[in-house]
Amino acid sequence: MRIKDIKTRIKGQIGKEIFFYKTVDSTNTVAADAAGHVREGTVILADCQQKGRGRLGRPWTSPAGINIYMSIILRPDIKPKDGTLITLAAAVACALALRRVTGLAITIKWPNDLIASGRKIGGILTEVKTARQRIIFAVIGIGINVNGDPDSFPGAIRDIATSVKNETGKKFSLERIIAEILNEMDRWYPILKGKAREALLAEWKQLTSTLGKHVTVVAGQEIFSGYAESIDDGGLLLLRLPSGELKSISSGDLTVLR
Ligand code: BTN
Repeated sequence: MRIKDIKTRIKGQIGKEIFFYKTVDSTNTVAADAAGHVREGTVILADCQQKGRGRLGRPWTSPAGINIYMSIILRPDIKPKDGTLITLAAAVACALALRRVTGLAITIKWPNDLIASGRKIGGILTEVKTARQRIIFAVIGIGINVNGDPDSFPGAIRDIATSVKNETGKKFSLERIIAEILNEMDRWYPILKGKAREALLAEWKQLTSTLGKHVTVVAGQEIFSGYAESIDDGGLLLLRLPSGELKSISSGDLTVLR
């Protein structure tokens, strides 16, 4: 990875400072440890992760040299209940950047899966530290499958995962994709913090493949099936249950029913 090739493309504050590691347990862990003493917008990047983490306690397979594993440190002055918006902003930034660089029709599956041709091409794990009803820092962990072949995925997810190379037949520069994501994040971050959040929600709704579908969501011990009607101002999913009730769901594992 050539950090200089990323830095020369960076336009704003996010990604001005980048720390690169050959191997880490998880860039999110390194970022959380650093969050107290680095500038906002600092990025932790790694070539490979030994304990890459996914949502809902799952592992994130992180082989060396072919994919993006990065974490962005932010300190948004927003309420913890609006924390989901950080992930929505990151999903929008990743989808737009990937579309621009690769030409793929990337969509977002609620809350934050990046999808190409119905398969997962990337994911986002946001971890937040809060105190007294404010966010102290947020670590946005982004994993994108870029130049791997199908055999780079463990057998269990081979049918549901894909990579940019798998979809386009071409290899892409990790540095270029990273810079585009960071520049997009720089564009959406002030929007997420400010009063024009509707613009962020509107863009997310443009990019999602979840709304308007019948879905099942596993949320903790509960399972809900219904029609994915919309998301609310805080990014919660609004699911119309068969009873007619509109249920808002903050997190979970969503499957689109065909
Ligand atoms: C998901 O389950 O969809 C979220 C995956 C997030 C993976 C990224 S890779 C960089 C960062 N470090 C981690 O340990 N996880 C995130």
